[in-house]
Order: sequence, then structure tokens, then C-alpha cells
Amino acid sequence: MADLEQALAEVAAEMAARGDRGEVASYIPQLGRVDAGKFGIAAATNDGRVLVAGDAGEAFSIQSISKVFTLTLALGEKGDALWKRVGREPSGNPFNSIVQLEHENGIPRNPFINAGAIVISDVLLAGHQPRETIGEILRFVQFLADDETITIDSAVAASERATGYRNFALANYMKSFGNLHHAPEMALGVYFHHCAIAMSCRQLALAGRFLANGGRQPSTGHSVISAERARRISALMLTCGHYDGSGDFAFRVGIPGKSGVGGGILAIVPGVASLAVWSPGLNANGNSKLGSIALEKLAKMMNWSVFAP
Ligand code: DON
Repeated sequence: MADLEQALAEVAAEMAARGDRGEVASYIPQLGRVDAGKFGIAAATNDGRVLVAGDAGEAFSIQSISKVFTLTLALGEKGDALWKRVGREPSGNPFNSIVQLEHENGIPRNPFINAGAIVISDVLLAGHQPRETIGEILRFVQFLADDETITIDSAVAASERATGYRNFALANYMKSFGNLHHAPEMALGVYFHHCAIAMSCRQLALAGRFLANGGRQPSTGHSVISAERARRISALMLTCGHYDGSGDFAFRVGIPGKSGVGGGILAIVPGVASLAVWSPGLNANGNSKLGSIALEKLAKMMNWSVFAP
């Protein structure tokens, strides 16, 4: 097996040199301004090492990766009752698809497609003002990463609110089925803000440690969630974390991962490490093109897979 620090440096050098980098998301105008030439990668290991390469210290918009953290909070509040309002099956459809919602009576397929994450935001709003819920999500992420400097990029949140017609459509449609308990604009306010959390690969890898370590923070040994819940969240990342590209990611990389249209991916090697990668150019499914190639190479070099001993 390769040395992890060396493997990260090798992968970062190879990715920095590549020309075919995919397309930066531009449907959220503020995201379209990001330099497609960036590449960062970080690993936070269960034995306490934090190893980085490339632009791993530069903050980017984590977008849908935030849905892992909001799901964790919502499961903490609702437990298994959450599954009455959102499913846990892969969608096989794009992340912002509307058609499936009609067939399934306003119950989104899983918590990682946009509709599912908007329901999760609605769950987290119960008894709170949107500002309080947004603060709670941000503080949870800061706690997980051990870093109070993590912030929300309000220009990205405003840019998405101004252009998020499809998410408004999804929210209104679910409201008509009774699967949103608050006004659509309130649930969306929470949703747009958690998607706009800005983190570096380093911070994101640190924030994912509890999933690689049976629900516990490796630095303190404190339990964040039960080991069973950590396994289940990782299972959802593997089956649903890359939308209609989830099967391909599992086939090529072989570990749970959650992507965001900012070009980030959080990936978990159970029992070993939490990984974060960032390359803003996306493939046709809206997932980081070089990010998934980099994780595929790294997993191969390190012999990491949930399907192998
Ligand atoms: O709702 C949206 O479209 C974005 N805030 C998040 C989408 C996203 O990150 C999809 N992931 N690849």
C-alpha cells in the first residue's frame, strides 16, 4: 500500500496538470465565477493525521455536501420518524428533478436530492426562526471541523435565492402535498444558506471524521451519533450521494461519497479516514469531474474499498 501523504501529492500533481476539467456550474451565477483550474485534496485519518495537497486550504461552496450535515441533525431530532417524510432509495434522476415527486405524492426519494434536502430544512425549522436554524447548522459544522472560522457565503446564498426557480417549484409542489410544514420560502431560506457554507478541503475532511470513526470525533472520543447511524448515513452517501451518477461512483471509487455543484466531494473510508476533494469543473451529472477521478486513483493506490477487506 502507498504512503498516504505521497499518494495525495501524486494525485494532486496529476490533476493540476490535466486539461479536461469539466464545466463549472453557472446556474447559480456566483458559482460561475470560480476558477476551474483549482484542485485541492485532504485526508483526516482516524489516527489523528491531517494531510493535504494542492489548494486544500482554499474555501469553496460546499453546496449539496451540506446535506450530509443537515440529515445528521434531522435524524438526531426525529429519529426513524424522519423516513415518513423522505425516502432512502436512489433516485436515478438529476438532483433537481420534478417528475418523480408527482408519482410519489410529494415524498422525495432520498434526503440528498434537492426536494429531500428542502424537506430536511423544513424539519429543522420546527420551533425556530430560519435565522436560528441556519445558525444551528453552521455551529454543528464548526463543531465537527473544530473550527469556528467557517462561515456562510451570503453572496452565494443570495445568488441562488435570486435564480432558484426550480427549487421554489419543488418546495411549492411538496407544500401542496402537505409535506412542508412551513412556508416554502422559509424552508428554502434555510436550504439556500446551508448550501452556501464555505469550507476548504481541510475543514471538510475534518468535519467528516465522525462518519469514518463510528460516529465519534477521533480527536476527543466524544460521540456525535451512534455507530449504527453513522453506518446508515454512509450507506445513503454510497447509494444516493452522486444522484444519477451514484452507481458509477460506487463502481469506480468503491467508498461512500457526497458531491456538491461547487465541485467538492466528501468521501468516507470507514474505520480509516475522511477525505475531501475539490475541483470546480463538473461532469454531465453535476458531480466534480476531476474530484471523482482523483478519488478513484487514490482509492486504488491505497487499496480502499467498502467491498474489500
Ligand atoms: O439546490 C441546488 O441546486 C444547489 N444549492 C445544490 C445542488 C448540488 O450541489 C447538487 N450536487 N451536485
